[in-house]
Amino acid sequence: MRFILFGSPGAGKGTQAKILSSKLKIPHISTGDILRKAVKDKTPLGILAQKALSKGALVSDEVMIGLIKDALQESRCTNGFILDGYPRTLAQAVSFDKLTVELKLPDIYVVTINVDESEIIERLANRRACKICHNIFNYQDIKDLNKCPSCGAVGSFYQRNDDTREVIKHRMDVYNNSTKPVLAHYEKQNMVMHIDGSQPVNKVTEHILSALKEKTGEDFKISV
Ligand code: AP5
Repeated sequence: MRFILFGSPGAGKGTQAKILSSKLKIPHISTGDILRKAVKDKTPLGILAQKALSKGALVSDEVMIGLIKDALQESRCTNGFILDGYPRTLAQAVSFDKLTVELKLPDIYVVTINVDESEIIERLANRRACKICHNIFNYQDIKDLNKCPSCGAVGSFYQRNDDTREVIKHRMDVYNNSTKPVLAHYEKQNMVMHIDGSQPVNKVTEHILSALKEKTGEDFKISV
């Protein structure tokens, strides 16, 4: 199973990708996570990407195309993958089509998670993540802000530096102008499924799994 989780910033791509990766036993490839780790580790990629990430702008297509080619050639992707955050421009989508032919990766599906913009802005402003287990939360749902409810780590929550209201607004503009048009590219190939992302997290997961089953005709095994 190979699919792209598509949607605006804060639509719930990362949340769903983590759950689906564990249920379907396929890796979650998040270009945002790869870039954030590179920034943290101060690698040449991180130094190059840092400015774009902090402003909510896109890293260049050339860099991203090379990054995804390397990621998909890792052995963990042999039985499938979930792509989160890629492709994000038409140039990336066109190059990705060529890459999937070159690497013999047919049947890439696109799961689009739709959520209203007003809800997105609240979600992102309230997002916190755990440094240790990398799970994502809405901070209003966390009972003890000093202790991660998933892994029990103490003092491990952080807020992404692109989750300020000003940068969120810019990320939404970038999504609407550069990323949303990518969807039409895949609609033409009849590979897209639309999911209502305003439902509770477990309902969104259920709907994604049933849409994938229906679209692919595969009766895939789910680990619970
Ligand atoms: P990236 O990390 O990909 O950020 P994004 O697309 O802006 O998406 P987010 O991670 O903000 O949101 P999400 O949809 O994963 O939502 P989440 O599950 O966390 O990219 C970051 C940056 O990297 C870009 O700005 C760019 O600079 C660069 N970059 C990355 N890829 C690139 C590319 N291909 N080309 C160029 N540059 C690139 O959920 C959000 C919140 O909502 C959480 O608090 C969560 O708990 C909550 N939530 C989730 N689901 C629900 C639900 N069903 N109900 C209620 N709350 C929910």
